Amino acid sequence: MTSLTTAQESVASIDADALIVGWAADGSVAAHPLLSDEAREAIAAGAAALDASSKAGKVTVLPGVGVAARRVVVVGIGDATTEDLRTAAGEASRAVGKKPAAVVVALPVESDEAAVAVAQGALLGAYAFTDYKSDEDAASDTAWTVAGASDAAIARAQILVAAAAGIRDLVNTPPLDLFPGSFAEIAQQLGAAAGVEVKVWEAQDLANEGFGGILGVGMGSSRLPRLVRVGYAPEGATQTVALVGKGITFDTGGISLKPSKSMETMKSDMTGAATVLHAVIAAARAELPVAVTAWLCLAENMPSATAQRPSDVIRIYGGKTVEVLNTDAEGRLVMADGLVKACEEDPDVVLDVATLTGAQGAALGTRTSGVMGTEAIRDEVVAAAGEADELMWPMPLPEHLRAGIDSKVADLQNMGDPQGGGMLTAGIFLREFVGDTPWGHLDIARPAYNEGKPWAENVAGATGHSLRTLFRFLENRAQA
Ligand code: BES
Ligand code: MN
Ligand code: ZN
Repeated sequence: MTSLTTAQESVASIDADALIVGWAADGSVAAHPLLSDEAREAIAAGAAALDASSKAGKVTVLPGVGVAARRVVVVGIGDATTEDLRTAAGEASRAVGKKPAAVVVALPVESDEAAVAVAQGALLGAYAFTDYKSDEDAASDTAWTVAGASDAAIARAQILVAAAAGIRDLVNTPPLDLFPGSFAEIAQQLGAAAGVEVKVWEAQDLANEGFGGILGVGMGSSRLPRLVRVGYAPEGATQTVALVGKGITFDTGGISLKPSKSMETMKSDMTGAATVLHAVIAAARAELPVAVTAWLCLAENMPSATAQRPSDVIRIYGGKTVEVLNTDAEGRLVMADGLVKACEEDPDVVLDVATLTGAQGAALGTRTSGVMGTEAIRDEVVAAAGEADELMWPMPLPEHLRAGIDSKVADLQNMGDPQGGGMLTAGIFLREFVGDTPWGHLDIARPAYNEGKPWAENVAGATGHSLRTLFRFLENRAQA
């Protein structure tokens, strides 16, 4: 197991496979209270000879001369913002050699925020998903030390890193093994370990209570759908936040089948559910004084003899009917059930998190999520994202798009204006199911899963994007 601790002794004498230090804009090793001037100067001489760069995340590797560690990773820290430090630690974490037993990080951590960012960068940057590697030694178990970090920062980082890594593990797990039933069981286990309450609706319960969205999407699969409620309700909390997550464990498109190339990453279509699950667990572990309830809308979208058809009409929980014109626009159907159910409990705010539309990527690219909803909540989410160093951008819900989801036969249809704005139309569709509850909608379709090269603390595959924003949003609410 990977571990994270702090150290308060001189780092030059700590025995380790690698020592990570910062390279500042003035062409020197970034000052650190536990790094002597002698050690800094010895490292600087080597780094300068190799044209070290201060650009955040630019790595120069030196042999460990003048320090106990066997190698020194010199990494640019840019302006030393929390974002730059996280990026630096992330890039450096992939230059520490093969399966190191121990790594010491001596980047400047003058605040707890900086220390948390450095720990996140290091541990998440070195994250690897090895569950399906036959080689028993595939998993590395590095002991990470963030020198000079406070105990409080380490404790907070442990919670946030475990949450992000937990999301990544769920998302990276192949859909053969992660399906609605197994996902619900994992939620029960994780919930029990964190001391939060978990309730599961089996398919029969969903039918009895009228969850037509989750059932409609899930009925094409032999592995039946689930709804899961995970509740953390600390004594004395004055606020309740509901979080609803899209949990399509695999999205083939259904009868409106996707081309196979577009399907390759669709095991990631349950990222929203994994994220809200881990957000509640993180809130509980951090003992935030705010009540948080996660709703996991779990279904596998398969084409089969029992699958829903384009032109079917389903009834969402609470009674609204939807004409399903495209079975690949399934996320909004399961989310509609989840949002109505979540709002029934009258939370102060509801946030939903979903890999909802390809249009998100067309509009904002692979790293920036779209945020919609009630304007005040939308802006509160975007502000939290800014504080958490996650790329999120406010998007409108233009009124003229509403007419596009009027159906000839039902209350609504699940497809809108064909001329574009698909991310916004999906948001407008979800708005129909939140009533008066203050609401925010996060479309994380592309940022959830990195199809490219590693960057900063992100490796290939699941990223954990949006967890930090949700956690910061909850913290801000706890203080309000
Ligand atoms: N899960 C997809 C959205 C998606 C696309 C996520 C690419 C991540 C990467 C969603 O269920 C979907 O298929 N959306 C359709 C909606 C359309 C049929 C209105 C889309 O975006 O094409
Ligand atoms: Mn789809
Ligand atoms: Zn989907």
